Amino acid sequence: MDFNLTKEQLELRAIIRAFAQKEIAPYAAELDRKAKFPAEILKKLAALGYFGMCISKEFIGLELDAVSQCIVIEEVSKACASTACCLAAHASIGTFALRNYGTAAQKQKYLPILASGEMLACFSLTETNAGSDAANIQTISVKDQKENNYTINGHKIFATNGRYADMITLATTINPELKHKGVTLFLIEKDMQGLKIGKSADKLGLRATDNCELFFENAKVSAENRIGDEGEGFKILMEALDESRILIAAQAVGIAQQALELSIEHCKNRMQFGKQISDFQATQFKLADMATGLEAARILMYKAAALKDELADKKDDKEKNADKSFTKEAAQAKLFASEIASKITIEAIQLHGGKGYLRDYPVERLMRDAKVTEIYEGTSEIQRLVIAREMLKEDNNSNNNNNNNNNNNK
Ligand code: CAA
Repeated sequence: MDFNLTKEQLELRAIIRAFAQKEIAPYAAELDRKAKFPAEILKKLAALGYFGMCISKEFIGLELDAVSQCIVIEEVSKACASTACCLAAHASIGTFALRNYGTAAQKQKYLPILASGEMLACFSLTETNAGSDAANIQTISVKDQKENNYTINGHKIFATNGRYADMITLATTINPELKHKGVTLFLIEKDMQGLKIGKSADKLGLRATDNCELFFENAKVSAENRIGDEGEGFKILMEALDESRILIAAQAVGIAQQALELSIEHCKNRMQFGKQISDFQATQFKLADMATGLEAARILMYKAAALKDELADKKDDKEKNADKSFTKEAAQAKLFASEIASKITIEAIQLHGGKGYLRDYPVERLMRDAKVTEIYEGTSEIQRLVIAREMLKEDNNSNNNNNNNNNNNK
């Protein structure tokens, strides 16, 4: 077991950390206060190649391994969680379906310009009645065989990057009664006729991200823009969420790291009863719990990412890996990291005392930003459900294998 990052990963961390602290952190408070989309910062991240961090070199991407993607998102999140969210929504979940299930023509057309940042991507699944119950999508796509196109009608909410996106990975259904078997994905360009951008959500945290409504009114999209087969969309969405949940863990770890560092600094500088409050055992116990929880979250995040990388390396060995996935590990990383980030940021406010409650200090923003990591891309309750299902499946498989071995030995 090797807990060390490689030389390349350490170098990447030093580079992205220096960039994030210089070019992102100084603007985070203002972006949050004004709920301003970080367009200029995103342009700089795109110029450095990070928009293409999940895209293969063949399509001019950086093709970073999953552990390195976590490093990037953690460091950006430590500086500004909103910016990290915009980046991850574009680089990971916004492009997943295209990267993994797009046709050669779709990939050639879109991936290089998504990697360069000429286009910003968005992923749109959520609807008023399709949140945790992702199979309950009502946005309908009806095929016209003669025209070889689909007509889309429906209403989406919370589309991250939605207002600013040039390309949307859109989840529809060909028939709501089919539930998950009807889910069908499309690549939508923003200037499509029949697409209207609605209100952006006014949120507690991640205020500099955009989460807006999308209305589709008899919007026509060519069948060439469908990703995967009709009805194949649900499986693709679930796989996209598996990938992306590791990066939500990275967002939470970055927020928590910042909260811990600010708390240590504050406790060493704050004098009460004639000494630094870091000299009090009550303070030390809080800091110790925060640091330990954070370390555990980071290890779970790296474990899930390393498993994803391992399975990707072995993807040609299909038969051996047919039943292997990182679904459980991704859900565990997201669940633990998001819940501990909320706890750590609340403790950070407590350690800062009255100052922690003020808008003038960053810890209250960290607490607001941490909370949503327990909610979006699957609530903590959904992560627990996914973990339990995967665990029970593993247990059934191992019982079946044992029974088979016993029968063979007879
Ligand atoms: N990988 C591949 N396939 C998977 C899978 C995975 N991780 N999980 C499920 N599937 C497959 C199943 O094998 C099954 O396939 P078959 O038809 O071949 O049997 C099929 O998908 C249906 O699976 P389930 O029966 O388990 O489906 P379900 O309806 O019970 O739902 C769920 C399962 C885990 C609850 C799922 O609905 C889920 O993850 N819900 C949460 C969705 C979510 O995260 N929503 C928010 C994301 S968007 C967002 O947050 C927007 C934003 O940016 C603000």
